[in-house]
Amino acid sequence: MATTLGSKLENKTILSAAKVSFTYDPQPGDKSAVEWTFRDLSLQVREAEIVCIVGASGCGKTTLLNVIAGLLKPQSGSITIASAENRGRAIGYIFQQDALLPWRTVRANLALAEELRGGVFKRGSKERLARYMDTFNLKEQILDQFPAQLSGGMRQRVSIIQSLMFDPQLLLLDEPFSALDFYTKLRLESEFCRLVKEQRKAAILVTHDLDEAVAMANRVYIMDLNGNLSHEFEIDLQQNDGSVEAARGTPQFAQYYSAIWSELKSVIAN
Ligand SMILES: Nc1ncnc2c1ncn2[C@@H]1O[C@H](COP(=O)(O)OP(=O)(O)O)[C@@H](O)[C@H]1O
Ligand SMILES: [Mg+2]
Repeated sequence: MATTLGSKLENKTILSAAKVSFTYDPQPGDKSAVEWTFRDLSLQVREAEIVCIVGASGCGKTTLLNVIAGLLKPQSGSITIASAENRGRAIGYIFQQDALLPWRTVRANLALAEELRGGVFKRGSKERLARYMDTFNLKEQILDQFPAQLSGGMRQRVSIIQSLMFDPQLLLLDEPFSALDFYTKLRLESEFCRLVKEQRKAAILVTHDLDEAVAMANRVYIMDLNGNLSHEFEIDLQQNDGSVEAARGTPQFAQYYSAIWSELKSVIAN
């Protein structure tokens, strides 16, 4: 169903980042001289919500995802991630280039979550795998192939499924669809939107593609050159089936697009 204000408030907060500051500066002795990638950054993401971050190259988007993922330690602030009754891992991270292990078959790549759990098959894992394969339009035959034998679009799908097998609550995506051809991209965007809504996951999507951001997001943030999430846009395209084509076809789409683009232009120009 469409997210009305009422149902939105009931949605649980999955990620809460509060006043997070990060610098790559190894010796932040003299505070005034420190080059902060971002300072006092706060962000919340609720279940069934997709938040997109757009901004100039080098403004700190990937760094922010890495900090949220726990790969980089912030100098101050707090990051809280709600896990769903200890069901799975808290976070799944999907990169622009798939992170599949080339020496393993697709099946063995997809079994990674089980293996890291000590070979214990979680209840319903096989069914989930079959469902994801179906959702992302992958045939069973590819399970015995190696990543190099698949197209880029297929590899990226397998990579997304690999992350989903960990059953993460929060999905972090860093330009995940940018290397794909247009049709594959549209299809994956739609499938991903549906999955987040249906399974009530939360997602942060970094993209340089404004079109993609408006079509997929519940909220779009512009990150400025100082690493601030300086502008926030609530997107409500009133289409609930998750189809990005339908989203692009709504009359409001162009309005959101031009509103965000005009801010983004001035942010990048400054
Ligand atoms: N490992 C690193 N060490 C030092 N500086 C880095 C490192 N990674 C990124 N940076 C710098 O931090 C800034 C933000 O980078 P990044 O988060 O990759 O930006 P974006 O993803 O928005 O393009 C850039 O100025 C970049 O050069
Ligand atoms: Mg980046």
